[in-house]
Amino acid sequence: MSTTTIALVTGGNRGIGRSVVEALAADGRDVIFTYNSGEGRAKEVVDAVAAQGRVAVAVHLDVTQPASFPGFADTVRQTLRDRWDRETFDILVNNAGIALHTPLGATDEETMDRLFAVHVKGIYLLTQTLATAPEGTAPLLADGGRVVNTSTGLARFVTPPYAVYGAVKGAVEVLTRYWAVELGGRGISVNTIAPGPVNTDFDGGYLRDENLQQIFSGLTAQGRVADADDIGPAVAALVREGTNWITGQRIEASGGFRI
Ligand SMILES: NC(=O)c1ccc[n+]([C@@H]2O[C@H](COP(=O)([O-])OP(=O)(O)OC[C@H]3O[C@@H](n4cnc5c(N)ncnc54)[C@H](OP(=O)(O)O)[C@@H]3O)[C@@H](O)[C@H]2O)c1
Repeated sequence: MSTTTIALVTGGNRGIGRSVVEALAADGRDVIFTYNSGEGRAKEVVDAVAAQGRVAVAVHLDVTQPASFPGFADTVRQTLRDRWDRETFDILVNNAGIALHTPLGATDEETMDRLFAVHVKGIYLLTQTLATAPEGTAPLLADGGRVVNTSTGLARFVTPPYAVYGAVKGAVEVLTRYWAVELGGRGISVNTIAPGPVNTDFDGGYLRDENLQQIFSGLTAQGRVADADDIGPAVAALVREGTNWITGQRIEASGGFRI
C-alpha cells in the first residue's frame, strides 16, 4: 500500500487548478485531478507531473451534474486501488469554477442557477459524496485529511458586475466553517483559499488587458497582478504537515488587493 499523500483537485487541467496540482506534486504528493471540457490540457498536466517524478491521473467531471457523482466516486475508488493500492485519498481541493456577470438590472434566472450549480450545489454534493459515506462504509476522504475550498476576494470587496458570483463564493466560505465542525471530529481540517484577481482564462481572460492590469496593480500592496503560480503554492502550503490545526479559516491570497 502506498504511503504517498494523495490529493484530488477539481478543475486541475488549467489555470489555478493546474498550479495547485503541480505545487502539490512538487511537495511530493500524487494527484487525481478533474477536467470538464479540456481533456487535451489535462493530458499536458499528467505529463508535466510525470516530469516532476510524481503520478497524476486525470478524470472527467462536470460539477453541475450531481447524478454523475456516485460514478465519479467509483472511478476514484478504482483508481486509488489500481495506482496506489489505497482505499482513501488525503486532500480535497474544490477549485473548479466559472464567472458570469450579474448586474442587478440584467440577470436572468438561468445565469443565477448556473453560478449556484457550480459553486454551491456542485461543491456541496461532491464533498458529501467524497468526504462522507453511508453507515457501515468508509468515506473516500481519509480521517486526518484536508479540504480546501476556493472563494474569491470578491466575497470581501465589491466589484460589480460580480454580485451573484461574489454571493455564491460567500456561501463557499460559510460551507467551509460548517464542514470544519462537521468533519473536525475525524481530524479533517477545512479551509478557504480566497485568491484576488489572477491572470488566467477566467471570465474570458479579462485580466490579459494591460490597462486593467495597471489599474489592479495600483490596488495591490505588492504592486502587480497575480498569475496562477501565486496561488497553487499557497494551497500546497496550506495542506503541509503541521498545519492541521488551522481550520475553518479564510486565507486570502491576493498580494494585498484592496486592503
Ligand atoms: N482567476 C481569478 O481571478 C480568480 C480569482 C478568485 C477566485 N478564482 C477561483 O479560482 C478557481 C479557478 O479559477 P481559474 O482562474 O483557474 O479559472 P479557469 O482558468 O477559467 O479554469 C477553470 C477550471 O474550472 C473547470 N470547470 C469549469 N466549469 C466546470 C464544470 N462545470 N465542471 C467541472 N469543472 C469545471 C475548468 O475545466 P475545463 O477547462 O475542462 O472546462 C477549468 O479547469 C475558480 O473557482 C474561480 O472562481 C479565480
